[in-house]
Amino acid sequence: MPRDAITPPTPFDWIDGQADRRRSAGLERVLRPRPPRSDLLDLAGNDYLGLTRHPAVVDAAADAARVWGGGATGSRLVTGSTELHAELEAELAEFCGFESALVLSSGYAANLAAVTALAPHGTLIVSDAGNHASLIDGCRLARGTTSVVPHATPEAVRKALATHTGAGLVVTDSVFSVDGDAAPLAETAGVCREFGAGLLLDDAHGLGVLGTGGRGAAQAAGLAGAPDVVATVTLSKSLGSQGGAVLGPARVIAHLLNTARTFIFDTGLAPAAAGAARAALGVLRAEPARAERARQVAHTLYTRLTGAGFDSARPDAAVVSVRAPSPAAAVRWAADCRAMGLLVGCFRPPSVPDGISRLRLTARADLTDEAIDRVLTVVTETAPEGARDV
Ligand SMILES: Cc1ncc(COP(=O)(O)O)c(C=O)c1O
Repeated sequence: MPRDAITPPTPFDWIDGQADRRRSAGLERVLRPRPPRSDLLDLAGNDYLGLTRHPAVVDAAADAARVWGGGATGSRLVTGSTELHAELEAELAEFCGFESALVLSSGYAANLAAVTALAPHGTLIVSDAGNHASLIDGCRLARGTTSVVPHATPEAVRKALATHTGAGLVVTDSVFSVDGDAAPLAETAGVCREFGAGLLLDDAHGLGVLGTGGRGAAQAAGLAGAPDVVATVTLSKSLGSQGGAVLGPARVIAHLLNTARTFIFDTGLAPAAAGAARAALGVLRAEPARAERARQVAHTLYTRLTGAGFDSARPDAAVVSVRAPSPAAAVRWAADCRAMGLLVGCFRPPSVPDGISRLRLTARADLTDEAIDRVLTVVTETAPEGARDV
């Protein structure tokens, strides 16, 4: 018998069973190549304001790399903190209306930092069922205990806080990434105040789109700068760059700098990303109408999609999603859109809390009316059977 006829077991054989199950459920994820330039109409990314290739943003990234190098070289606590990072933090805090800010290497890291640092042992974390994976993982890593409450229901937050006598922290997306609906922030903040709990809101999809000139959901809800409110943002969506930040009272930011492991033990944000985000913030400040236009485009897409018989939730910011009959149908629908020149996102379990697969369309501020017509034509012509009865 040849020596290799029997393959010895390996510690990872269980992976094959999982992969088979994913494939047969239509849930396999694969990477597709992305060329530097493409004729595809891109509604899959999160470049809400169309800034990622803005000349000022690209030039600032290149300039920052030339001055500071390709990377931050280490944790900012170890190798030092550049004036570029300090300026970005001051400008972000000022723009969004908070006292202070701390920039981290991603929005994901910012959420892990904020939840873990603000919810030590004995804290009850109340987390919305529709929260982003990074907030969920923050809850899992925190020493406090977590109660997951029904989506966007302040009364459920009240009930959860009422069961607890110690410190409380309520965590919520400001705009939920699956359906694009906004959290009831003002009501939730009111409930937090009844119980002396802190409010941590993830404004990944609100910055650049909601609030005056895109100042974000906290500003829109009159909560920016409050002593009991902390916000996280990503620099990778409206600001066309990469990275994240926590915004809040100065003492909260100083606490994060001293205790947040994803800040302390992580290499600082790359200078090119910091430079790009600063420049994008500058463009947004100079052209505040971009925020309004993104919201307008979202509303038009929603009105026309529902008018064509599709099931879409009313968007509160720039995320528009359309329900699909099944995960496999959603994948096929997205592929057929791509074949017709339109790139859309495809959300399937486990990324959708209710198990319903969706196409996800980004309402970019730089979409022309002709482009919106084209989106409608493509989505309608490629719709799978049952897409209007989900
Ligand atoms: C709601 C929300 N929070 C946090 C993140 C993470 O941000 P980043 O991509 O900068 O890590 C995302 C991005 O996908 C998001 O949608």
